[in-house]
Amino acid sequence: MPDLIIDTDTGSDDAVALVMALRHPSARVSAITTVAGNVPLDLATQNALYTVALCGAGTPVYAGRHAPLLRPLFTGQHVHGADGMGDIGLPLSGRVAAPGHAVDVIIDTCTRRPGEITLVTLGPLTNIALALLREPALAQVVRQCVVMGGASDGYGNVSPVAEFNIWADPEAARIVFDSGMPLTMAGWDVSRQDAVIDRNEAAQLRAIGTPLAEFCIDIQAALLRYLTEHTGLNGFDLPDPIALAIAIDPLIASEVLDVPVLIDTSDGLCRGQTVLDVRRALRQHPVVRVVRRADRARFIAMLEAALR
Ligand code: RIB
Ligand code: CA
Repeated sequence: MPDLIIDTDTGSDDAVALVMALRHPSARVSAITTVAGNVPLDLATQNALYTVALCGAGTPVYAGRHAPLLRPLFTGQHVHGADGMGDIGLPLSGRVAAPGHAVDVIIDTCTRRPGEITLVTLGPLTNIALALLREPALAQVVRQCVVMGGASDGYGNVSPVAEFNIWADPEAARIVFDSGMPLTMAGWDVSRQDAVIDRNEAAQLRAIGTPLAEFCIDIQAALLRYLTEHTGLNGFDLPDPIALAIAIDPLIASEVLDVPVLIDTSDGLCRGQTVLDVRRALRQHPVVRVVRRADRARFIAMLEAALR
């Protein structure tokens, strides 16, 4: 089973992914690293620390980059709530991150343990890009990198064609996707098709009755309001949890396409678009494993087991 480093901008769906990883009987989380995205860095770090404590885990949380490589930070607080966790009044402050910078921890852990670490990225790719810039050999020593990001069908959430994690820091995404690191991309299309939890299912999951079950459902309050109003989804979707689930159990990726993925780093309409070069028109880009569909039943089973 994989040994994970999870890089997260700890919003309400990230937190569910952290619970799934920390509670999985045979996954090991060596470190959690935080990055600005859904919320500013300090909130992402506090939210991750809160979630680790709620799971009774001792996993270290290291803070990383407070902003994208080149662009100003635009958060997703209008989606996930000002605190990123549904604004339901959780005591999300006052915890202390582990000493050390996320980028150094990613480099040191992966180079000390070549071939052992799976990176799972749940937010903008700023920390991973910086690690690759500082230590290009990282691309050769990482077992694999599973990215929640992009949209293989061109249907975006933050813009007509771009998904938030890539749109937030497209330069970082281009560095990561062009690095040659063994990369699996689970885009928003996978979440929208195979990881939407409707109100009835949310009630059933919450009825498991554990503190973790109530936490994982209640913190989706702001997301549910936003999605209902802006996307017409019948419930909330869980993009980070399904990407995490694929990292732990690759069989959940039921349909994949191995293809180069190019990132639009312009400032125009297509900023942050993930373009699949199916025809191989541009030969110098490495191939990425793009997940197109997921085994929803297998994913829900892992989620339910984590909440019990
Ligand atoms: O577009 C969805 C992604 O953006 C998820 O990772 C969500 O947490 C936000 O970071
Ligand atoms: Ca996220």
